[in-house]
Amino acid sequence: MIRKYITFLKQLSRNTIGKIGVILTTSAIITFILLEIMQLAGIIHNAYIGLIIYLLFPALFILGLILIPFGWHLRLKSTGKTSRELLSEVFVDEQGRHWFFGSPLLWTIGGLTLANVIFLSGVSFQALHFMDQSEFCGTACHTVMNPEYMVYQSSPHARVPCVDCHVGEGLGAMVDAKLNGVWQMVSAGFNLYQRPIPTPVHNLRPARETCEKCHWPEKFYGQRLKSIIHYAQNEKSTPGYTTLLLKVDAGKGAAPAGIHWHIAAENEVRYASLTVQREEMLWVEVRQPDGNFKRYTNRKLIGGNHEPEEIRYMDCVDCHNRATHIYEQPSPAIDERLRSGQINKDLPFIKREALAALTGHHPQAGASEKIEEKIKRFYRVRYPDIWQEKSESIIKSAGQLSKIYNRNIHPAMAITWGSYPDHIGHAGGGGCFRCHNQDLVDMDGHNISADCTMCHSILANESPTPFDYMNNHSPDGRDYLIREYLKSEFFHSIR
Ligand code: HEC
Ligand code: HEC
Ligand code: HEC
Ligand code: HEC
Ligand code: HEC
Repeated sequence: MIRKYITFLKQLSRNTIGKIGVILTTSAIITFILLEIMQLAGIIHNAYIGLIIYLLFPALFILGLILIPFGWHLRLKSTGKTSRELLSEVFVDEQGRHWFFGSPLLWTIGGLTLANVIFLSGVSFQALHFMDQSEFCGTACHTVMNPEYMVYQSSPHARVPCVDCHVGEGLGAMVDAKLNGVWQMVSAGFNLYQRPIPTPVHNLRPARETCEKCHWPEKFYGQRLKSIIHYAQNEKSTPGYTTLLLKVDAGKGAAPAGIHWHIAAENEVRYASLTVQREEMLWVEVRQPDGNFKRYTNRKLIGGNHEPEEIRYMDCVDCHNRATHIYEQPSPAIDERLRSGQINKDLPFIKREALAALTGHHPQAGASEKIEEKIKRFYRVRYPDIWQEKSESIIKSAGQLSKIYNRNIHPAMAITWGSYPDHIGHAGGGGCFRCHNQDLVDMDGHNISADCTMCHSILANESPTPFDYMNNHSPDGRDYLIREYLKSEFFHSIR
């Protein structure tokens, strides 16, 4: 049997094309099996190996399979014989018996074909599964996706697979995504992609299908306490607390609604933006109970003959565009490490020096070492005593700065501070203030409200304590309750 199989392969590889086909197919399948065993046994494990196992070898295998009949065809042409004649000529055993028709050879071909089909469907299934893993999306094109992958890993969604947000359900979406993926591979291979990768993503899976699988409108109720610490750039890096009570409610029926009013089932907001960046609105419309839309028009842009580049129904991503790919700004990033103790806040002028070091460098490879060096030099030169006493802590703090830098700045992808703006909040007049501003007005000249207490109560604003309450002792003992509250686990779990 084996001998016949070898005879069969020899006959197929009588010319160069056939030979290449047979060698490709056989060696691809053998290497594939070896690598697959090594991968299953945990000997090798990384996304590139996956790329090779599930894409390269199956591709070589298929190429080989295509070359074999092509080689056979060439042989028919060169001998001038029909397939039947050639077959009955070449497949003759030692006793001179033809062993093709109704013979083991037919079984061999049939069996091999069946084996190929099973093998290939198994591999395609594996390949599709493999390509759906975050590790593949995040690392297969290392430079391109690394920034998004990096910030994803430290986000609340680190365990939500990329495809759950980026690829819809069903065959159509899958085919779309794979075609898109092929294009991405080509553009990565030939260096055709834009840096940084443009945002917003226009073919993101509708948020209502994805986010709402885990967070649904009824889930948003009540208010949420958030305390933000800013450290001053003075010797002591004095903390200042801003505490907001965010009205996250989606509202229902007659109950007052808050921030998630926009996405409650009975509401609908749509907008026309001047550019695909969705930063400046031409108009914003709200569906009324009678089904008509009420329009707020941007009075700054009236008469300018502007055409909207995009009309969009508002969903989660219009505010939570950084739900997962969370890039930090230098000052809040330092504040966060000071708060958590990763950077030692007892070092004199640490906030000021850290900020200067982080922002004082053009994004380029090797900048993070310079940042570390700058901090160390500052204490070595200016505070030799402290350097003597706390060098370990200084080195550790400097290391944290370098981590902040490497997390947020990616020179290879031209990503620097602020490349990906965050729409939560209203820093720099963006975010909520893209719509909640004085310029978007209805027929009567009323604007979309930007009242400071509509979205949050401000319980402290750059105060020495997280609650202004604590400064003016209330006679009824409420400050005692707040103090207890501050000591609780809950307070420590918010920032
Ligand atoms: C929880 C949902 C979610 C997950 C999980 C997720 N993304 Fe995203 N991704 C988004 C959203 C939302 C945006 C921004 C869309 C916008 O602004 O229009 C985005 C944007 C991007 C962008 C465009 C650049 C940018 O930052 O705006 C890339 C590239 C990207 N994601 C890749 C990935 C990769 C790779 C993974 C897995 C490692 C992943 N995403 C996982 C929701 C997600
Ligand atoms: C597979 C489930 C899943 C999907 C899909 C998902 N999330 Fe989440 N999300 C979570 C989990 C789990 C957390 C973490 C909760 C925690 O840590 O307390 C979270 C946290 C968040 C938070 C932070 C809440 C906080 O406590 O600060 C926001 C905002 C958020 N998700 C928005 C989104 C948006 C927007 C989308 C769609 C683009 C989305 N999520 C898709 C499961 C999901
Ligand atoms: C109008 C802007 C806006 C829209 C639209 C929006 N959110 Fe939010 N969401 C916010 C703000 C602001 C907060 C509070 C921010 C914070 O906690 O830092 C928030 C908080 C959250 C939280 C934490 C809530 C909690 O109870 O503690 C989750 C989870 C979340 N949003 C998910 C979603 C999802 C999913 C959608 C779409 C169905 C959505 N959001 C739509 C602005 C929005
Ligand atoms: C695309 C435009 C747009 C953006 C962006 C936007 N909003 Fe709104 N928002 C509206 C419109 C329109 C209304 C309703 C105005 C009206 O009453 O006619 C509204 C209403 C509200 C209300 C009042 C809900 C009620 O009970 O009537 C709150 C609270 C709110 N928005 C919070 C936010 C926050 C917080 C953000 C940013 C995270 C934000 N919005 C971003 C368009 C927007
Ligand atoms: C349309 C809703 C909305 C309106 C109107 C609004 N804010 Fe805010 N504000 C937010 C949201 C959302 C955040 C971000 C919360 C977070 O960090 O998650 C925020 C954050 C803040 C912060 C903290 C910033 C920081 O990071 O330290 C301050 C201070 C603040 N707002 C003050 C104001 C003042 C003053 C006004 C009136 C001029 C105002 N807000 C109007 C929604 C609003």
